[in-house]
Amino acid sequence: MNEAHPPPVEGDVNVSPARAEWRASLSDAARAALDEDERYFLRQSLSTPCLAPILRAEGAVLTDIDGRRIFDFHGNSVHQLGHGHPKVVDAIRREIESLPFCPRRFSNATATALARRLVETAPGDLDKVLFAPSGAAAISMALKLARYATGRHKTLSLWDSFHGANLDAIGIGGEALFRRGLGPMIPGAEHLPPLNLARRFFGDDKPFERFADYIDYALEVQGDVSALIAEPLRWTTVEAPPPEFWPQVKDSCRRHGALLIFDEVKTGAKLGWGGASEYFNVHPDMICLAKSIGGGLPLAAFGASKSVMDLISQHKVFHGGTYNTNPVSMAAGLATFREVLTRDNYAHVDKLGKKLAAGYRKTLAKVGLQAYIAQAGANGALMFYPKEIRNYRDWTTIDIDLWRHYWFAMVNRGVMPQPYWWDEQWTISVQHTEADIDKHLAAFDDIASSLAKAQQERIGQPALSAH
Ligand SMILES: Cc1ncc(COP(=O)(O)O)c(C=O)c1O
Repeated sequence: MNEAHPPPVEGDVNVSPARAEWRASLSDAARAALDEDERYFLRQSLSTPCLAPILRAEGAVLTDIDGRRIFDFHGNSVHQLGHGHPKVVDAIRREIESLPFCPRRFSNATATALARRLVETAPGDLDKVLFAPSGAAAISMALKLARYATGRHKTLSLWDSFHGANLDAIGIGGEALFRRGLGPMIPGAEHLPPLNLARRFFGDDKPFERFADYIDYALEVQGDVSALIAEPLRWTTVEAPPPEFWPQVKDSCRRHGALLIFDEVKTGAKLGWGGASEYFNVHPDMICLAKSIGGGLPLAAFGASKSVMDLISQHKVFHGGTYNTNPVSMAAGLATFREVLTRDNYAHVDKLGKKLAAGYRKTLAKVGLQAYIAQAGANGALMFYPKEIRNYRDWTTIDIDLWRHYWFAMVNRGVMPQPYWWDEQWTISVQHTEADIDKHLAAFDDIASSLAKAQQERIGQPALSAH
């Protein structure tokens, strides 16, 4: 193994005993199908273990080849709609029967309607959108346009951030796992500390005010930055910046002639109706969306003001893509926005999110497991740390092994509580019901005392009551 490679953790090489036990529980047919997959398919990093070959995904339930039903809270940040939402499926069916593909030299009404919908719903000055088949492709377009719009090529972005696995997205991204051993990245991609280290680098006294000041300084001394690109909020690994942070940063960008790009691939249409831009009441110059907006089909979007977007139509920028306005993806996106991501459904998801969080907290307090729940809208997570994580050092002391036992024990009880990674979160979809939340909580209640006992043995002291 190359020295530059990350250490062998289960996420990439499937080596934990829990994983071995899981595999032993599969049928011969399931094991043979996984082996076949392993033989021919280059697996996606950090997405292993592939648990089992899956046959059906319907609403909130996955069914594997052995007939095992698993309640899906994994979501992959897409399935805030649940699997195969009937409104989306109907729209796809209608579109594929009438217009399965749209050659680039034609417009199609579904793409136009979806673009209009996004422009009308997006907060701020987004006048036009472009579509793409993936979040990383939308990010790439944003970077390209920012160069043309400003005549500059440098960017500021945050260490530890993720913007996709394409080379340019990795270049502005900050996740070491994706960057190690890759050689030179794109020129001019400068990095700032991540949001969750604000306290570590800027102190406990007004860390975000100092951070915003530092950004102002970086923009000024560089003087030729095209854009600052960031995930406005990084879920469980981060404490949300205070409300004034992003507006301050936007103001600095404006003063120094740089564009502010929000990567809302995860937060867009998810954190709430208008995504993080609405949540923070800030209008970025460009927004990238993906995941939820396609209702399960590959769809991403990139939006900006007319002055930026017109550069394309004035032929100052050349851009195109075979599947950029694929009518079937467009139909799925339109149905998602018009019929599924309604205000009522956000309220439903929010109610279930609060119920799940409250249920977890009750059990944590009952068994004395040292952990806490972080929750916002459709997302939440069980954090194996006794108090709210405030900085990187806290983060590195999370009991990952205990977390792994939690995850496998839940899956063994028919509930996939979240993606397989301890900095991920659960997703509640509009198709989850109160009964699904009860099932999730019952599975946790079943394992919580054993987890608390194991935790006590490890730390050799009585478990504290969780807050
Ligand atoms: C914040 C963020 N940006 C960009 C991407 C890349 O999106 P995609 O996987 O659709 O290329 C992701 C994917 O997880 C993401 O979380």
